[in-house]
Parts: sequence; C-alpha cells; structure tokens
Amino acid sequence: MSQLYTYKMPTELFFGRGAAMHTAEKVRELGSDNVVIVTDQGVYASGVLKTIEESLQAGNVTYSIYHDVEPEPTYKGVDEAVKLLKETKATAVIGVGGGSSMDTAKNVAVMGTNEGKIFDYLGFGNIKNKPLPIIAVPTTAGTGSEVTFWAVVGDKEKDIKASVGGWEIMPDTAILDPELTLSVPSHVTAATGMDAFCHAMESYVSKATQPVSEGLSYHAMRLIAGALRKAATRGDDIDAREDMLMGSLIAALAFNVGKLGLSHAFAMPLGAKYKIPHGMVNAIMLPWVMEYNLPAATEKYIEVAKLLGEHVEGLSPMEAAAKSVEAVKRLNADIGITQGLKDWGVKEEELLEIAQKAYQSGNIYSNPRSSRVEDLVEIAKKAMKGLR
Ligand SMILES: [Fe+2]
Repeated sequence: MSQLYTYKMPTELFFGRGAAMHTAEKVRELGSDNVVIVTDQGVYASGVLKTIEESLQAGNVTYSIYHDVEPEPTYKGVDEAVKLLKETKATAVIGVGGGSSMDTAKNVAVMGTNEGKIFDYLGFGNIKNKPLPIIAVPTTAGTGSEVTFWAVVGDKEKDIKASVGGWEIMPDTAILDPELTLSVPSHVTAATGMDAFCHAMESYVSKATQPVSEGLSYHAMRLIAGALRKAATRGDDIDAREDMLMGSLIAALAFNVGKLGLSHAFAMPLGAKYKIPHGMVNAIMLPWVMEYNLPAATEKYIEVAKLLGEHVEGLSPMEAAAKSVEAVKRLNADIGITQGLKDWGVKEEELLEIAQKAYQSGNIYSNPRSSRVEDLVEIAKKAMKGLR
C-alpha cells in the first residue's frame, strides 16, 4: 500500500570551490548589511575566516566576530554572542565551523528575536518569534548542521546536553566551500567523517526512512566511503574534501526525515559526561550497533556491504550482511580510529546509567531493531575495548 510522504527543505544550498568568496552577496540577499560571525578559537586562529572577511569587506557588509564557541557548546557562548549581536545591532548571524559553531549561531539567531533564555526553547517547535536570518558555513564535513533543524546547547555544570529544534532554525543559506575544509587535521576529519557516514547509514536502515531519504542516504554512503580514507590521510586532496562535504550535506538531508539509530542515541550521554567528540562516539558505536541490527535489516546491510566493496556472492544473507560490519571496522582502523569507550574513561559499572540515558533518545524508535535498556548495555560492553 502506498504511503503519504513529505520532504521539505527550505535552505538554499550554495556549493563549490570558492563559494565563500560570495558571502557578502548571500548576506545581502537575506536583507542584511550587518552580521555577527559565530565561530570557535580553532577556526579563528586557522585563517579560514579570511575569505569570508574579504568578501564582507568588499561588499560593504559590517561584521563583528564572536570566536569563543566551546567544543561542546553551552548557553554561555549563546549569551555572549547575543550580547555582541545586540551591541552591534546586527541583523543576521553567520555560523562558521563545525556543528558547535553552526548550532550556536542558530541559537543566537533565536535569542536575537525571542525573550528569556535559550533553555526556554528546548524541544521541537517551541520557538515563538521567527529568528534572525542564519547563514551556515561548515568547515568540517560531518554534522550536517547547515541543513538541520536542531541546535545543541549544553550546561557543563549540570551535565546537560539538549537541543532546540524547529523549522525556523533551518539556516536560510548554507555556503559549502570545500576549500575551507582543507586545513582540518586528520583525526578531526576522521571522526567528523564517521559522523557523516553514521548519519547516512543509520538513516538508510531506519524505520522512518522513505524513498526520498533512502536515495539520499545511499548516495551519501557512496560518496563518503569513496573519499574518507583519502580525506583523512591526505588532507590536501581537494577532490576527496569536496566529496566529503557533499556526502556530509546529503547525509543530513537524509536524516532530517529518515531519523537515526542507536549510535546516535549513545552520542548524547557519552558526549555530555565523558566529553567524547560526537563523531568519535558514533565511529566507536557504529560497528556494534550494526551487528545488533543485522537480523532486523539484513537486506539493507547486504546493500551496505556491497557498496563498501565486499564480495557477498555465495554467502548466506546473514553472512553477507555481516560483511558490512567488518568493512566499517576496517574503515575505522584505516583512518586511525581504534579506541574503545574504555580509552575515554568509561567504566564497566557506568554502562547501565549510560544505557538508561541513551534510551531516552528519540533515535531508539527509528532504529531498525527494537531494543531494551539491557540490549544497549550489551552493545556498549562490546564497544569498551576498541579495535586494537
Ligand atoms: Fe551526528
């Protein structure tokens, strides 16, 4: 029986080498001539902003820069950047960086037009007034935050990592320039790249997938599988960087509607308490989550195995599907991700609490195989050791 599907994507995608040189035009198209750039210290120090600043100067767009976004962004960064926004009377926000900077920029745009605190707007659909225009400029290929309707915000003292969500915080424009990703270090390229791959795979096997997202997931996996090893080990390979940025973008276009799975359910508790980078959590968890899911989405995992170059002829369906797990472990190892949860300070006796927190994630329901808290504990146990 045919079902009803919706696929909605309000963000303008402006993609290609040198795209950042057109930032001023994109700001003016949104009706602004005064912006706040939200970024982190690493991006600020790397010189990546140079192209963007040159464009803004040439286009007579006034700008100020907030460059203290934390790796796990908190309300403090939002508050400080909003203060700058109000002082400078800026009328648009540009987020430049990884997920932390783009998410903070989204939250700053919300607080530019809404009263109270950012924590008043947690959850989906609770934003009252339309946020200021948002331009997202990713400098890593991973989170896909440039086209998602979620923005993470945390409180370090309280171990809180939560999200503000709504169609209103989909960036108005995403400027995707692969040249901005050339200087990303290898270990960051590896972890963020596995985050993107995990988005593609988890949305592909998800219970919530639909024909449009399934096609996007598959193509994203193909692009990332073909480029991640090169991007992580030969950072100046612009073709690989371009494929990674496109793969990460398309994976996010898929998971917006296709949802995610158990790896991402683990990402919140492990990121909040142990400060494991989001992409690293997903890289560590993905093979074990796949192994758990094999019986529930066998045909899909056979497709993944084939896409990853595995030979599956003559094998039983489960054996063929299991090849996908081996292929992902090899991908992790080839790009230098061999750690397990233990290497990040996670203790065996803490796994139950982690599993209970992970179980509160909405991604539990879209994961192809139903699970109980005890199942999550078993999966996490396997992920303790890593691949060494
Ligand atoms: Fe992710």
